[in-house]
Amino acid sequence: MTIRLDSGLDSQLDSGLGVRESFRLGMIGCGGIGNVHAATARRAGIEIVGAWDILQERAEAFVKEYGGTAVASLDELLAMKSIDAVVVAVPNDRHAACACAALRAGKHVLLEKPMALSTAQCDEILAAAKASTGSLQMGFVCRQSPTALAAKKWIDSGRFGEIYHIKASLYRRRGIPGLGGWFTTKAHSGGGPLIDLGVHVIDLALHLAGHPRVERVSGMTWSKFGSPIADYRFTSMWAGPPKLAGVFDVEDAATALIRCAGGLTIEVNVTWAANIPEGSTRDGISIWGTRAGAWFDVLGKELSIATEEEGMLVDLKPQFDATDPMGQAWDEQYRHFAQMVTHRKTPVATGCQGRSLQAVIDAIYESSKQNREVEIS
Ligand SMILES: NC(=O)c1ccc[n+]([C@@H]2O[C@H](COP(=O)([O-])OP(=O)(O)OC[C@H]3O[C@@H](n4cnc5c(N)ncnc54)[C@H](O)[C@@H]3O)[C@@H](O)[C@H]2O)c1
Repeated sequence: MTIRLDSGLDSQLDSGLGVRESFRLGMIGCGGIGNVHAATARRAGIEIVGAWDILQERAEAFVKEYGGTAVASLDELLAMKSIDAVVVAVPNDRHAACACAALRAGKHVLLEKPMALSTAQCDEILAAAKASTGSLQMGFVCRQSPTALAAKKWIDSGRFGEIYHIKASLYRRRGIPGLGGWFTTKAHSGGGPLIDLGVHVIDLALHLAGHPRVERVSGMTWSKFGSPIADYRFTSMWAGPPKLAGVFDVEDAATALIRCAGGLTIEVNVTWAANIPEGSTRDGISIWGTRAGAWFDVLGKELSIATEEEGMLVDLKPQFDATDPMGQAWDEQYRHFAQMVTHRKTPVATGCQGRSLQAVIDAIYESSKQNREVEIS
């Protein structure tokens, strides 16, 4: 059965960026995701006026492609009066220092996920945001994917009834990003797939459920494939082949059960590497509600809904625009970013939500370490 969602979502997705008043952007970190930000900013007509990376040649290559000036230090970038807002797209351990410095300089900030390495660092960022004339938006881009927006719209209409369980999964079989580099070095990343992929799907699950308070978590992490690095059977990964002389001291798989106030549970499974037969698992979000349930791949094109109509169980496939899920999600993230910067609108993903999520991630690591359930105060 095929049905069409009412026009609200369609017009939201069809309207493109809708950025009427543009602003000027500075990029902090010109690596993989810095380039995705820049390409999105270009589509939105947002001007990039400055860029900084610890590797000067990266900043120079970046401005050649996207425009602006490559500067030699963060201070120099933040002193540029022409910059209204910055994107923080550096390794996780630099998030707090860069975001705080930018907020203190009065810039608006789009901060990549995860918010930081600890709730203490998140609190520093929140304090800097409170004292700043700039605003802070978290880079939880998965919330803006066409399937996630469609699911949220359906949930907000009340048609799921009570949502009592959400499964959030992202599986890679041999996809350790940049094995041996900063992603797999705990001091720089804070952890493996839980803090890398888990933040996306846990944030999305909490967002879909209306941000319930998380009370307890039980988690387990494993590190079975990354070390010794030479033994890992690399197939392909966007962050490149293993660096044999590098560090791997994080997990490569994680699972958790998150218990929320009101009884909702969220089951999380994320892997960078695992012996999972092809086709035996599905990435994505499953929602179990009393009146309807759903499944969707975050960057997929379909939302599958099961519900009862006229005393019969029916499967529905709402129709919405999902021609380019990744591009649409990023464009939508920038539409909100522009509204925050130019119209002082409330950020679509807040620092407080980033901090709450960090507490959940920290508690899952602690639960794994202590081999027991952990309460979140
Ligand atoms: N939203 C998403 O879907 C998504 C996807 C990938 C990465 N990320 C996040 O984006 C951030 C960057 O990830 P990436 O994949 O672009 O990594 P990357 O390694 O490709 O890029 C990081 C850049 O930061 C630079 N850098 C390293 N140390 C630095 C320092 N001390 N100061 C300034 N610059 C420094 C590097 O030279 C590099 O150019 C991470 O926080 C990551 O979690 C988000």
